Amino acid sequence: MQSRVVTLEEGGKDPATFLRTNQSRVLPVRILQFLLLFLGVGIVFSFFSMYMIRYFGVQNAITLVQSRVHPCFEEPNILERWIRPPSNLLHTMNDTQLFWRASFIPRIKDYPFKRTPKIAFMFLSRGPLPLAPLWERFFKGHEGLYSIYVHSLPSYNASYGPSSVFYRRQIPSQVAEWGMMSMCDAERRLLANALLDISNEWFILLSEACIPLQNFSIVYRYISRSRYSFLGAFDENGPNGRGRYNGNMAPVVNITNWRKGSQWFEVNRKLAVDIVEDNVFYPKFQKFCRPSCYVDEHYFPTMLSILFPQLLANRTLTWVDWSRGGAHPATFGKADITKQFFKKILEGETCMYNNQPSSVCYLFARKFAPSALGPLLELASEVFGF
Ligand SMILES: *[C@@H]1O[C@H](CO)[C@@H](O)[C@H](O)[C@H]1NC(C)=O
Ligand SMILES: *[C@@H]1O[C@H](CO)[C@@H](O)[C@H](O)[C@H]1NC(C)=O
Ligand SMILES: *[C@@H]1O[C@H](CO)[C@@H](O)[C@H](O)[C@H]1NC(C)=O
Ligand SMILES: *[C@@H]1O[C@H](CO)[C@@H](O)[C@H](O)[C@H]1NC(C)=O
Ligand SMILES: *[C@@H]1O[C@H](CO)[C@@H](O)[C@H](O)[C@H]1NC(C)=O
Repeated sequence: MQSRVVTLEEGGKDPATFLRTNQSRVLPVRILQFLLLFLGVGIVFSFFSMYMIRYFGVQNAITLVQSRVHPCFEEPNILERWIRPPSNLLHTMNDTQLFWRASFIPRIKDYPFKRTPKIAFMFLSRGPLPLAPLWERFFKGHEGLYSIYVHSLPSYNASYGPSSVFYRRQIPSQVAEWGMMSMCDAERRLLANALLDISNEWFILLSEACIPLQNFSIVYRYISRSRYSFLGAFDENGPNGRGRYNGNMAPVVNITNWRKGSQWFEVNRKLAVDIVEDNVFYPKFQKFCRPSCYVDEHYFPTMLSILFPQLLANRTLTWVDWSRGGAHPATFGKADITKQFFKKILEGETCMYNNQPSSVCYLFARKFAPSALGPLLELASEVFGF
């Protein structure tokens, strides 16, 4: 303090002399001023910290300081955080939390960023995917237009390498049994996980016994240009159709609403959210569509036919052969895989596509045994175009 007074007095006499002669003395004075300021700030900060810790606790105080200090660094990332798909599919949300999170929908329909709509291929399997090499070839070169999700028995550990399209695409899974509500739960779980990626626009359910019948470009064009979602839904009389209806479901579901259809569907984002958020039809099917009802053949077709009949094509994209009769469709192995076999599937039918007759009715087929893989890979480029 003493030296400060002296410099001021001297400077007052003759500023020019002061500058010239006292240059060396000013520096220590400045340093002292700085130290004092620093001390002051330090004391204020200590009091501030003690106050914060007393009132908010240590952890909260730290977070509070961080949130005060860093806002400029976090702001630009907020939109990106919403757009970016989850980097790790193995989250720890349970179904209640997952479905809630998946049901978020933007009400403004124009995306304020470049969004390339993707197809989510959702594989519902018990364990391994024996036809994976065929799918790898199908997807090759179309990165950015698809995402993959695999639901398998929780006891199964997948071991795909980093170069595989199935690498780390497994979602948290639970046991799913054919014909039971746990099967619909697994399908909803797949949809909900796929909904977390805002770029997924169409959702296809497949099994480990499914194969693609067309190349990716055709599949993408067919699905993206369709006005309808491809979900089998028909009104069938007899014991395996209306015969499975239970009158206790009325008036939420009446007998005239009852629909049947293959479980292998394709739905758009809107219908995917409707399926995940449903809590009106779910309890009715859970309670009154039991064992010999085969709930996975009725729940989604019936619910969506009641809610949005105008959005459904009422047919599936997945070919299957029921002609042999019995409770299960035919499975095809090595000996069945010939050009003629696929010619029959690919050219055998006409169907409606966007209200016009079309010769392309199926994009996928089932059921194929692991032994079919070799011949399928041999025929793929000639017959399927990939
Ligand atoms: C998920 O966790 C929440 C919160 O702990 C709980 O309320 C809910 O019942 C759980 N849901 C399931 C399906 O376990
Ligand atoms: C799968 O991996 C987990 C953890 O790595 C292990 O505890 C479990 O035994 C494995 N299961 C099988 C069927 O290999
Ligand atoms: C079932 O029938 C009742 C009585 O006719 C009617 O009120 C109800 O809306 C119907 N439910 C559906 C889903 O159509
Ligand atoms: C599908 O069936 C519903 C009745 O359940 C009907 O309203 C709808 O028009 C049908 N879709 C097509 C594309 O014909
Ligand atoms: C897909 O198949 C169609 C018809 O078979 C063919 O014209 C087209 O070139 C194929 N696309 C690719 C990328 O191979």
